[in-house]
Amino acid sequence: MTDGSQDDALADAGYHDVPAEAGGRAARGWWDANAEEYLDEHGAFLGPADLLWCPEGLRESQARLLGDVRGSRVLEVGAGAAQGSRWLRTVAGADAVATDVSAGMLAAAARLDAAAGTRTPLVQADARALPFADASFDVVFTAFGALPFVPDTERVHREVARVLRPGGRWVFSVTHPLRWAFPDDPSEHGLTATRSYFDRRPYVETAADGRVLYAEYHRTVADHVADVVGAGLVLDGLVEPEWPAGHERVWGGWGPVRGARLPGTLIVRAHRPRT
Ligand SMILES: C[S@@+](CC[C@H](N)C(=O)[O-])C[C@H]1O[C@@H](n2cnc3c(N)ncnc32)[C@H](O)[C@@H]1O
Repeated sequence: MTDGSQDDALADAGYHDVPAEAGGRAARGWWDANAEEYLDEHGAFLGPADLLWCPEGLRESQARLLGDVRGSRVLEVGAGAAQGSRWLRTVAGADAVATDVSAGMLAAAARLDAAAGTRTPLVQADARALPFADASFDVVFTAFGALPFVPDTERVHREVARVLRPGGRWVFSVTHPLRWAFPDDPSEHGLTATRSYFDRRPYVETAADGRVLYAEYHRTVADHVADVVGAGLVLDGLVEPEWPAGHERVWGGWGPVRGARLPGTLIVRAHRPRT
């Protein structure tokens, strides 16, 4: 239940269009309701203070996709429990701020801070309307936050471009678009394409009264590139992390069986031009 009066039991799940407003609004309630369960399942792998880019296990400490952030102003959007920002502050020496649309995820972040004796600045904000001044950050990033859950990603990219200083970096990871064509199943059953890669209808879960409880949106690789370029940013590169030998951990549809054959994550690196 989200507001004490409505039945939020899942009644239907599938791929179909929903009004953009309802689809974009669903994430907040869903992550509030599922924050604890999500962190029970994945919290140990994420670590209390670490920047994990993806289920393949690529960490910022190895990848260095954000560059040298010591002394930099860094903004995390869709931060969840802010593990990435906490690591950036306590280990990498950055002045990082964590934002998320879900109060439940930010409450979990505050609990992690209390347990670790750290203080991560936490701000509740939709990544489509960031409450920060123009050109106020050197780096903005997200690991699987915000972008998959909004129908209008161009707004996120525009906001990122606005709050970045000229020359500042934008790095984000998302489910690899190729995965959309395959069942979300980590076993051999997830190796046969059953949907069109080009079908942009979101995956939607609804309650019995038709309310959208969860919506996840697909974009092709070209769509992600168009979003970045359309916001006036410069694309620096794409990273497709490979599944490491010996990495056995399953996370939803990610695991060693599919990881051996298909990419699971796409990381996009971009920057705001200097002029
Ligand atoms: C898969 S978690 C990623 C967080 C963290 N990197 C992790 O791996 O746990 C997705 C996060 O995106 C947040 N989110 C969804 N829609 C958002 C939006 N429109 N603006 C900001 N955050 C959003 C959710 O609340 C959730 O905390």
